[in-house]
Amino acid sequence: MSRLQKIRAEFQPQRPDILSDMNQIVFSREAKTSCLADEKEIAALFPKTFGRVIVSGGVGSREEAAPLKVGVVFSGGQASGGHNVISGLFDGLKKRSSESTLIGFLGGPSGIIDGKSIEITSEMLSMYRNQGGFDLIGSGRTKIETDEQFAASLETVQKLQLNGLVIIGGDDSNTNAALLAEYFLDKSCNCSVIGVPKTIDGDLQNEYIPISFGFDTAAKTYSEMIGNIERDALSAKKYYHFVKLMGRSASHITLECALATHSTFRLNALAAKGGDLSPESIQNDLSEEAAHCFASLPKEIQEQLLIDRDPHGNVRVSLIETEKLLIAKVKEELKNRSFQGTFSAISHFFGYEGRAGFPSNFDTHYCYAHGHVAAALVEDQKTGYMTCVGNLHRPVSEWTIKGLPITMLMNMEIRKGSSKPVIQKALVDLEGKAFKFFHESRISWGKEDHYRYPGPLQFFGETEMIDCIPLTLQFRT
Ligand code: FBP
Repeated sequence: MSRLQKIRAEFQPQRPDILSDMNQIVFSREAKTSCLADEKEIAALFPKTFGRVIVSGGVGSREEAAPLKVGVVFSGGQASGGHNVISGLFDGLKKRSSESTLIGFLGGPSGIIDGKSIEITSEMLSMYRNQGGFDLIGSGRTKIETDEQFAASLETVQKLQLNGLVIIGGDDSNTNAALLAEYFLDKSCNCSVIGVPKTIDGDLQNEYIPISFGFDTAAKTYSEMIGNIERDALSAKKYYHFVKLMGRSASHITLECALATHSTFRLNALAAKGGDLSPESIQNDLSEEAAHCFASLPKEIQEQLLIDRDPHGNVRVSLIETEKLLIAKVKEELKNRSFQGTFSAISHFFGYEGRAGFPSNFDTHYCYAHGHVAAALVEDQKTGYMTCVGNLHRPVSEWTIKGLPITMLMNMEIRKGSSKPVIQKALVDLEGKAFKFFHESRISWGKEDHYRYPGPLQFFGETEMIDCIPLTLQFRT
């Protein structure tokens, strides 16, 4: 272990006051809820779990706990803080009953289907606390969708006699959690299924879930690298740098990094999704070039990119070398305009670098809290719920906890040619304060150098520097 690994492994995450005594958490029911859209179809597809209410954590007294056996799985792409969800879940369960056990499914949801698991022990966990990655148990993108896969999953949880199954994943994985919860109830299986909102993309957020975990660390990692490049560019005045960021079409990462670094141009999907792509409306922006780039790809590659999707039907955007295509398009355009100067460009793709590093302090505390909430919801026999931790603009001690019925976040979408219930992806709010600030600033950021250099993630020092929440969240307070 490196020195930092060791120091971080020994670090004790902060906890909201409400989670300081697991023997005192009680959930009370909030107002009745409904899903955002397609209510009738969702209600028909989830007759057992639809219409449940949000529950809010408060202080009360709980009865003595019986030992629980709970399974946990990582689903989808890595996001920093995942090991802390598991640590929080483990500690939360053990605080209620030292005989409770935690089972980790190996390699993602396929581990549930194939019954591949290990018991997670305190010794094992000690090397993974506050560390990045998902390597304790691994992850995968298998979608549980066929009758055989649902039946095999049921067989696994019954064989292991699980009281609960915690699925740590993004929108598609939490959709899977809702489907499993419904299926288990339908088969008279009382195993609770609880989802935890994970994804660096930040597109699993709503009025109850302020942000998915991993977003903060990824954005801070990319922002450091962008800031370094800005400074290099300003010093050498030799190259134009084209940076592509991971984060799919939702663009939350791009907006967060733009706010952190004041980069010159933002090439993003914001305009494509929410506004128009005309050069007049996106002055100084290269978005139009992005659209042209895709169109200029050979037909076979275009088709392959659209067809070659992950098991949940998402386009594999990481494979599209937009940054290189843009450089080629700009070169072509300059030639057409008989540009006489030199245009030397360098491309970068920042993606995987940001998904598995040491979690920021924010993600460290946030994930540890989510793990505890998952433990409390399982013990309360809630099923088809997602963990929520809120009030994030306040000190950690004041954070609040809730359980959110997953079906209330769903709508019907066409996936792989047929209409499916899925959690709606949250795109950047074009009316929100963060986007408006970016929109007002981008002309001057484009014309003049207003670079900011966020530097590397910090774990020790001034509270303001080490515990800060994402900038886009700060705009929401
Ligand atoms: P999740 O939605 O599972 O969190 O994954 C998101 C993501 O990190 C995207 O931002 C990225 O485009 C994609 O995963 C890459 O997928 P893969 O890990 O399969 O290469």
